[in-house]
Amino acid sequence: MNHQIAVIPGDGIGPEIVREARKVLDRVGEVFGHTFEYTEVLLGGASIDVHGVPLTDEAVETAKKAECVLMGSIGGDAKTSPWYQLEPSLRPEAGLLKIRKALNLFANLRPAYLYEELKEACPLKDEIIGDGFDLVIMRELTGGLYFGERKTVEENGEKKATDTLTYSETEIRRIAIRAFDIAQKRRKKVTSVDKANVLDSSRLWRAVVEEVAKDYPGVSYEHMLVDNCAMQLVKDPAQFDVILTENMFGDILSDEASMVTGSIGMLSSASLNETKFGLYEPSHGSAPDIAGQDLANPIATILSAAMMLRYSLDLDQEADAIEEAVRQTLKDGYRTGDIYSEGTTRVGTAEMGDRIAERIRK
Ligand code: IPM
Ligand code: MG
Repeated sequence: MNHQIAVIPGDGIGPEIVREARKVLDRVGEVFGHTFEYTEVLLGGASIDVHGVPLTDEAVETAKKAECVLMGSIGGDAKTSPWYQLEPSLRPEAGLLKIRKALNLFANLRPAYLYEELKEACPLKDEIIGDGFDLVIMRELTGGLYFGERKTVEENGEKKATDTLTYSETEIRRIAIRAFDIAQKRRKKVTSVDKANVLDSSRLWRAVVEEVAKDYPGVSYEHMLVDNCAMQLVKDPAQFDVILTENMFGDILSDEASMVTGSIGMLSSASLNETKFGLYEPSHGSAPDIAGQDLANPIATILSAAMMLRYSLDLDQEADAIEEAVRQTLKDGYRTGDIYSEGTTRVGTAEMGDRIAERIRK
């Protein structure tokens, strides 16, 4: 079948990791008999350079017309890049927030899974790693502090900045339903993370999660305070199945969860709305310090492409084939620098893509 995919290479290492994901997708197409057609969309610094803004309305329309969006990463070095001389609403990250909101991508799924082969790269002690772990973070992506009113004013010669954190019952309910749905297909446990001992928004979060939980008698759930969760993730990550949390907490906890898997270069993500449409991107950033040097790990983007096949295009077998090819490539000892350990074969970005593509099997 023919599938229409919007592609956002973005900035920094974005173009090179997206190139490798396309290489793998094209191989999937050959093996399984599909054609993937790509339309490029500019976002972030790449869009600022051409249009002066990090995302145009036309770019949003192009993305909407596709069945799904595959993205690399956006942003540059805040100290040296001219993009950060612009006012905040014109910087690369504002484009990312705008596209999330415009496409209503409220459910951000970030799996953190420890590959047997990467135990060496995991910074945790062996007795904590045990038999490994496999969790997903369900992060709310279009509300909270990221989208609340903000302002900076000057009073009596002193500047004062305000950000606001708002959640409605509807926003909490729809993300909670997603978390319980996914838990039902996994190990049937939801840990809802909040700061209900301090924040009103978290107290409402808890109340709505409890209501939603009633509809899922087969799924166990618990509430956990975010500071405790940050600690538990390094103390005993295996206790988690699905972590459900609001936007800012999810941003922080997902970086932490990715590091305990060994490298942030391994973690994929899916941002979904109420339909099959989704935007798929690695959980990591644009790493401008290593851009264009064939050093980046393309695996997170390749695994994001697998999620895209599974969630937006209903191509489960093809998604399995990518995940299996990644596992096999790691088993065969190929590593980019970020996951390298003694006795393995160090390869660059492009070769990692080649090794994975050649292992795609029906
Ligand atoms: C992420 C990133 C973004 C976020 C930045 C680039 C705005 O850190 O996707 O986790 O904070 O959501
Ligand atoms: Mg982040």
